[in-house]
Amino acid sequence: MNNTATTAAAADPQTSRSLARSLPTNAVIDTIMARSAAKYYDTTAVLSDDQIRDLVRIGTSAPTSFHLQNWRFIAVRSPEAKARLRPIAWNQPAITEAAVTFIIIGQLADASTVPDRLAPVVEAGIMSAHLVPEWEGPARGLYDNQPQRQRDEAVRSATFGAAAIIYAARSLGLGSTPMIGFDVETVHREFALAEDEIPVMLLTVGPERPGNWPQKPRLPVADVLHFA
Ligand SMILES: Cc1cc2nc3c(=O)[nH]c(=O)nc-3n(C[C@H](O)[C@H](O)[C@H](O)COP(=O)(O)O)c2cc1C
Repeated sequence: MNNTATTAAAADPQTSRSLARSLPTNAVIDTIMARSAAKYYDTTAVLSDDQIRDLVRIGTSAPTSFHLQNWRFIAVRSPEAKARLRPIAWNQPAITEAAVTFIIIGQLADASTVPDRLAPVVEAGIMSAHLVPEWEGPARGLYDNQPQRQRDEAVRSATFGAAAIIYAARSLGLGSTPMIGFDVETVHREFALAEDEIPVMLLTVGPERPGNWPQKPRLPVADVLHFA
């Protein structure tokens, strides 16, 4: 055995054990492991308003800091809107070929929205009202006058929302691809985003046509995982 990585793995019981094990399986894990970026979509496929709403409803179940829910989703699915988006998204064919492309929008974190966001949580009896200021105070400490953190949170929230949509789509037999290949300023202007909104990514979703690659091999866990 002259492979250093293999020798090192064999010398490390924790790593070699993980190499020998197969992953646990269930429907959720199978969905995650089956996802790959879709390039080729069924150009005749259409998703109904309700199917698109369902995907976004599932996306909004993702967690956000202080329950800010600082996101918005534009479903670009009319031929006219797709034609406006494609040239400002590196002319990527998937924009017009996928049933829908979401503009995944993150909103700059604004702690003053905390009471409004928590009101339904209090109403539902999940949280007692006296806790609301106890959430708003730290949120203000974190985000007020902190533009970089406000922006980081916009990107984090939107990314979690997009991830939930990606895996929900896969589980429903739909392909998807997150995309950063677009002109941020032009998309912002063309789709009338507000000043506090960032187009974090585009996300194409729809039934696929044959030809898409399977999920690509990943770096070995031993290279990316460190125990502390
Ligand atoms: C933030 C981000 C931006 C991406 N942008 C694009 C894009 O603009 N166009 C595209 O075709 N794929 C894009 N991808 C897809 C990646 O190329 C793809 O996920 C990666 O090659 C791994 O392939 P897999 O997801 O099929 O395993 C992007 C992925 C991420 C996470």
